[in-house]
Amino acid sequence: MAEIRKHVAFAGKILIIGFGAVGQGTLPLILRHIDVPKRNIKIITADEGGREVAREYEIPFQVEPLVRENYQHVLERELSAGDFLFNASFDVSSLALIEYCAERGIMYLDACIEPWAGGHTDAAVPIGRRTNYAYREDALALRSRFPNGPACVLMHGANPGLVSHFLKQALLDINCDTGANLPEPQTREQWARLAMALNVKTVQIAERDRQVAARRKEWAEFANTWSSGAFVGESLQPAELGWGTHERHWPKDGTEFGFGCGASIYINRPGCMTRVRSWVPNEGPYHGWLISHGEAHSIPDYFTVRENGRAVYRPTCYYAYHPCDDAVLSLHEMIGHNFTMQARTRLLRDELVEGFDELGVLVLGHAKGAYWYGSQLSIHQARELCPHNNATSLQVNSAALGAMIWAMRNPHAGIVEPDDIDFRTVLEIARPYLGPVVGVYSDWTPLAGRGTLYPEDIDRQDPWQFKNFLV
Ligand SMILES: NC(=O)c1ccc[n+]([C@@H]2O[C@H](COP(=O)([O-])OP(=O)(O)OC[C@H]3O[C@@H](n4cnc5c(N)ncnc54)[C@H](O)[C@@H]3O)[C@@H](O)[C@H]2O)c1
Repeated sequence: MAEIRKHVAFAGKILIIGFGAVGQGTLPLILRHIDVPKRNIKIITADEGGREVAREYEIPFQVEPLVRENYQHVLERELSAGDFLFNASFDVSSLALIEYCAERGIMYLDACIEPWAGGHTDAAVPIGRRTNYAYREDALALRSRFPNGPACVLMHGANPGLVSHFLKQALLDINCDTGANLPEPQTREQWARLAMALNVKTVQIAERDRQVAARRKEWAEFANTWSSGAFVGESLQPAELGWGTHERHWPKDGTEFGFGCGASIYINRPGCMTRVRSWVPNEGPYHGWLISHGEAHSIPDYFTVRENGRAVYRPTCYYAYHPCDDAVLSLHEMIGHNFTMQARTRLLRDELVEGFDELGVLVLGHAKGAYWYGSQLSIHQARELCPHNNATSLQVNSAALGAMIWAMRNPHAGIVEPDDIDFRTVLEIARPYLGPVVGVYSDWTPLAGRGTLYPEDIDRQDPWQFKNFLV
């Protein structure tokens, strides 16, 4: 059991929208670590899932799906200035909720920027506009309208979220372990210059989920350790990645967005069809999927160094995700069925029997080659630490708790991303729930084992070129 300490007192209301893996697993953490009367919390969701969890904690639970036509009415009824909206749903437009909250002085947090239902696959919308890049640009554009608005934290779970803080700690470790010993950065510009000075070329969000349930995935079923629906949604978005200034080989089907910060590109094929090589400490090398995620834009944007308006340094950055084995089979089946999602889904949580989730940042290209820094949380530890969670969700939910507390302590922070938040605050709050948090150096490169059996088109001069990571 983690230490029970109230990190902040909150007198307003907290409305939780959506009550699946994130909502259910975060509620006990909110009650443990935020000094808020239970009567101030309410859940509004789209189905009966989690009703018994809400009952266990005596929190009002209402099934009332938010849609374009009713969300303003629902929020007006439930919230006013100084309150908090925790958006733990999918298929609800984050942008609509952020705008609503910013206009009315309501604090806001989500774990992912989502469009209204069907938005990820709406063929009437140009591909580049159906991306996390575009959603992020639209959300950041609201900053100019609400410069001193309520704290609205975008995309803060584990990834996006916690991994931005892992990256800062990893850079400080590399700074020390390579003997560079540059001063600790205090500003965005200084963080970017530190990454540049350390010669970081690529940052992969490297995750291998090895949790296993007693009952295997069944035919025509999508089984996953978090939302199957949200995972399928993002895996059908085009592969999106931050594009480093060191890259010399333009990927086939690679496309520039043509708007926004310009830190990233997309590949004209879904993430579930784009595999990349990666490495985590327990698994060693593995093939992950380049699934579209917000941190693949916020991190490279944050770490861009500009001189005379021109980007002179930026790391490549993307997610290399190996979900749990049953989710891999589910993904394979979904793709085979013409990208049509299975009718049945199963959240693997209470029935998991073994395994762990290794989630961290793999920082590549510096003087010591590769450095992975992250959490290795097992299902057994997760269960001991907090009910209604598995290892994956506890990594997400403890970080969401950290962001919520940060927002309550900085209520007028305006619209911020994980990279803008003090990394030590979130790490301190989340860490008791993350199991072993370790940093491991490796001599692994994406060239390892390549070209021995079959000659391959790779760039041996610079192992950190994106083309070398593509499977
Ligand atoms: N940043 C991260 O690390 C991270 C990790 C996991 C999930 N997420 C994101 O968090 C969100 C929730 O994920 P989850 O795993 O809890 O999903 P889930 O599928 O387990 O739960 C989603 C919940 O949203 C509710 N919902 C769906 N449509 C709704 C509507 N119209 N109005 C109100 N509620 C609605 C559902 O009833 C359900 O309770 C997703 O956007 C997901 O992408 C982020």
